[in-house]
Amino acid sequence: MLQSKILGTGFYVPPRVVTNFDLEKLMDTSDQWIQERTGIVERRFVDEGVGVADLALEASKQALERAGIGPQDLDFIILATLSPDYTFPGSAVLLQDKLGADTIGALDVRNQCSGFIYSLSIADQYIKTGCFKRILVVGSETHSTGVDLSTPGRDVAVLFGDGAGAVVVGPTEEEGKGVLSTHLHSEGKYAKELWVEAPGSIYHPRITHEMIDEGRHFPKMKGRMVFRHAVARFPEAINEALKANNYQLSDIDVLILHQANLRIIEYVAQSLEVPEHKVYNNIQRYGNTTAASIPIAIDEALQEGKIKEGSLVLLASFGSGFTWASALIRW
Ligand code: UT7
Repeated sequence: MLQSKILGTGFYVPPRVVTNFDLEKLMDTSDQWIQERTGIVERRFVDEGVGVADLALEASKQALERAGIGPQDLDFIILATLSPDYTFPGSAVLLQDKLGADTIGALDVRNQCSGFIYSLSIADQYIKTGCFKRILVVGSETHSTGVDLSTPGRDVAVLFGDGAGAVVVGPTEEEGKGVLSTHLHSEGKYAKELWVEAPGSIYHPRITHEMIDEGRHFPKMKGRMVFRHAVARFPEAINEALKANNYQLSDIDVLILHQANLRIIEYVAQSLEVPEHKVYNNIQRYGNTTAASIPIAIDEALQEGKIKEGSLVLLASFGSGFTWASALIRW
């Protein structure tokens, strides 16, 4: 029975560091408010002209190198993003071109904070069926060009950062190794609680000057409501993955939750009694990078030796959609 396994990882964040103090100069906010409510200290913003596919390229090159393969060895590309370079085509084909990969398929996944786990789940199925042998799975986001960096947008703008994380997935026949299971969920009745409304094909034209004046092209979130759902869904998704594989919470070596808010992660970890040293966080340095947050954290946790050969790693996400998901991996 074929299982899928992560063969190489990489990440890239743009060099421009934007601290909470930098944001204080743009809007009515404070380093204290941001740190107390979210744990974020700084994030990265792209320079003009750098897009999602550019960030994805750098992360992908590193993941390919660590997997010991080149772009020509890939069979398929999956790119998760909520901030594609253009309305269409998606950014996966741009990445295919930038990588110089052969004319392989390239798929965009639009599942926001859960985009990486949804993408990993797709890759897992292709590998298990024997359809593909080498799949590049990337989460990449450019938020800085889309948020309202003035006081009316402060509740959302201070949260997000730019970056990309990538993994190469391939088959293994080693019993009990690799991706053990993935679990995907959605609840679309909450679509408008965390969304960017315009431009939208439901409108004709898709965006108007009036909509821009009203700021309807900026992300909007009912923060407290999202928080409440997140702290309920994370434990559900974690327990679902453990139950499916007959594991207990105490068996987890490393827990990586989507980096949306350090308070959410701490609340979930404490309520499940997962000790702090098993939980990997980097939101302090990068903010919320939505689809990129989990693969960035995986790569950092590996480089820091927190994930080792044989580690049981649990990934879980919650975000816009609402969507939530989990994956259990034996490294
Ligand atoms: O990745 C997708 C999933 N996203 C999430 O899971 C995020 C979930 N939500 C959250 O993490 C939190 O709700 C936030 C961090 C977004 C906000 O924290 P909060 O404790 O829920 O604050 P709040 O929105 O209730 O706002 C509290 C106060 C308000 O002022 P008043 O009405 O009490 O006078 C806001 O206007 O804080 C004010 N505020 C700010 N003040 C300084 C909101 N944003 C800011 C800001 N700086 N950036």
